[in-house]
Amino acid sequence: MANLVRAKISALGTYVPPRLLTNADLEKMVETSNEWIIERTGIRQRHIVDPGMATSHLAVQAALRALEERNIPATEVEAIFLATVTPDMMFPATACLVQDRIGAKGAWGFDISAACSGFTYALQTGVKFVESGAHKKVLVIGADVMSSIIDYTDRATCVIFGDGAGAVLVEPTTDDLCFIDFIHEVDGSGGCALSMPGGGSLHPSSHETVDKGMHYVHQDGQAVFKYAVRKMAEATASVLQRNGFKGSDVALFVPHQANRRIIMSAAERLGLKEDRIIINIDEFGNTTAATIPLALESARQQGRLKKGDLILASTVGAGFTVGATLFRWAY
Ligand SMILES: CC(C)(COP(=O)(O)OP(=O)(O)OC[C@H]1O[C@@H](n2cnc3c(N)ncnc32)[C@H](O)[C@@H]1OP(=O)(O)O)[C@@H](O)C(=O)NCCC(=O)NCCS
Repeated sequence: MANLVRAKISALGTYVPPRLLTNADLEKMVETSNEWIIERTGIRQRHIVDPGMATSHLAVQAALRALEERNIPATEVEAIFLATVTPDMMFPATACLVQDRIGAKGAWGFDISAACSGFTYALQTGVKFVESGAHKKVLVIGADVMSSIIDYTDRATCVIFGDGAGAVLVEPTTDDLCFIDFIHEVDGSGGCALSMPGGGSLHPSSHETVDKGMHYVHQDGQAVFKYAVRKMAEATASVLQRNGFKGSDVALFVPHQANRRIIMSAAERLGLKEDRIIINIDEFGNTTAATIPLALESARQQGRLKKGDLILASTVGAGFTVGATLFRWAY
């Protein structure tokens, strides 16, 4: 028998730390220029935590804002799926720390490690738990403190990343303003193009791993760039096509904010004009698992997120991981 339960986003909350790291600041730290960063990435500034502030702190603020918007207590949350590559600790899961601090008594949850596709993967996990009838209120969070794993003497990576968090509540619905479809794909052959090699079971933290800077992000920027351009276009075109939509049906393209040029290239392949694309990389940089909810929040603040809108969210990241999600905005 057909399963008639559908899932929708019913609330959104985001949080970024107040401190700014501007291109002018970076000019004083490494051999770079405001012009180079803007031209090659589109980034003007990033929000960066103060010492002592971790991923869970940002995630808690975003989660509380989402719950406040929906006007429900945390005790109604049944599950928390938290995407991050910068957990407070290897374990326990940051989802557990958030569960405790927001007071989601009785909820379960776990962390999802899918780098820049983390939010789209966590979102689909939440959607499927709701569509299956297992849960009625799932909190999906994307949060990263990228500044904790960035080498601020490496100009190739330190200009790109920022810190932030976003959370959505996923709930059942019976109408058409719901999740429609998704396409996810991983390609582990690209694993070495973007990684943090130290601190895991292969290279446990030691003086040697620290001396070699293995606790930082290592990236082959061009390899990631080429893969992202190709796969963002491919996955978004496929998910539209198999649901009978064209690029012109999309009210809002919400891409992962890794590089302005990657976004514009995918949008061009879909035939999308700039008024249909959300770009806030200039303000936040690449916040990894937080970019999609932060982009939704920017759209909302600009009055560009309306009930019934067809939204196409798209991510590519370390792994490699690819995600494309199609849904209608429900409120
Ligand atoms: C990182 C990235 C911005 C670099 O841009 P690029 O146009 O590919 O630049 P390249 O890596 O080819 O480097 C070109 C030159 O700029 C230099 N350069 C790198 N970073 C620089 C910086 N911050 N300031 C000035 N020059 C810089 C390089 O050293 C290189 O110099 P060389 O030609 O003398 O060797 C780009 O590759 C990118 O965005 N990749 C994808 C990254 C990404 O999205 N990561 C997150 C995963 S979702």
